[in-house]
Amino acid sequence: MSLATSSVRPGSDAAALPEGVSISAIKPSIGSYISGYRFDGESVPDAFRSAMRYQLHNRGLVIFEPGTVTAANFTSFAGFLGEFFDYAGPHTPRAPDNPDATVISAEKDAHLRNHVWHADGGFRADAPAFTALFGKHIPDSGGDTMFSNAAYVYESLDPLFAQYLDSLKVIQSPDATGHITDRYLDPEEAAQARLRMPPFELPLVRVHPESGRKWVAVNESYVCYIKGVSRVHSQNILGILFDMIKSPEATCRIEWKQGALAVWDNRVVQHRAIKDYTSNAERVLYRCTMSV
Ligand code: SIN
Repeated sequence: MSLATSSVRPGSDAAALPEGVSISAIKPSIGSYISGYRFDGESVPDAFRSAMRYQLHNRGLVIFEPGTVTAANFTSFAGFLGEFFDYAGPHTPRAPDNPDATVISAEKDAHLRNHVWHADGGFRADAPAFTALFGKHIPDSGGDTMFSNAAYVYESLDPLFAQYLDSLKVIQSPDATGHITDRYLDPEEAAQARLRMPPFELPLVRVHPESGRKWVAVNESYVCYIKGVSRVHSQNILGILFDMIKSPEATCRIEWKQGALAVWDNRVVQHRAIKDYTSNAERVLYRCTMSV
């Protein structure tokens, strides 16, 4: 993980951070790296919890160095952020050594779409607020994850354009780019899945309940179109926003290390895997997501 050296304000409880813990910025627009903390498997001190919340709400993404948590206990560490949002199902198996985690493995899931920009659970209107991702097996080369801060994107817009976007709604669907079609090969099962998970409407711009920052709530994986405008209008506006979300200014790229943990505010931060590793490389991540 390549890091900038600038330190970051830990939050209102800075003075009470455990000894030896330090926080530094990953990029100006997104992310903090936290080093020097070791989870004892039992409890997280209150001051450290509030420092983590502060980082997540204000910097979007927090990366913990290897050794902070284990594959078996990272869910207990991150679980205070909210209720576990249960993803386990035929396509997302539970981790053998952690019942609160699910496995992301290209080898186990031929239809994995983690390389398309998305928010986890974006196929539902009540997508989880936080995600924690643990590096279980990391390829020798490749398989990084990119993250983008959609609040930074909103704040980079021309104010008049931002004001216009504030008035718009988007239609989202789990099948916007074919997730259902790819996974449910039997047409009857696909039809049932579409009935269970119909399209839904959300504002294009949303406001973070803690930081008060607005963010551009569109992602390439799950957004179908902007409601009530022509197709060409919708496609071009979404194209501008998707390009801004992918821009170097709004993003950071994390090179995984085995045992590292990434936690992010899944409302404001989008992500994608980089699918550049070889087909025989082992890339296994454990994930849990939390709703508030
Ligand atoms: C995810 O989509 O939650 C996982 C991202 C990754 O595989 O890097």
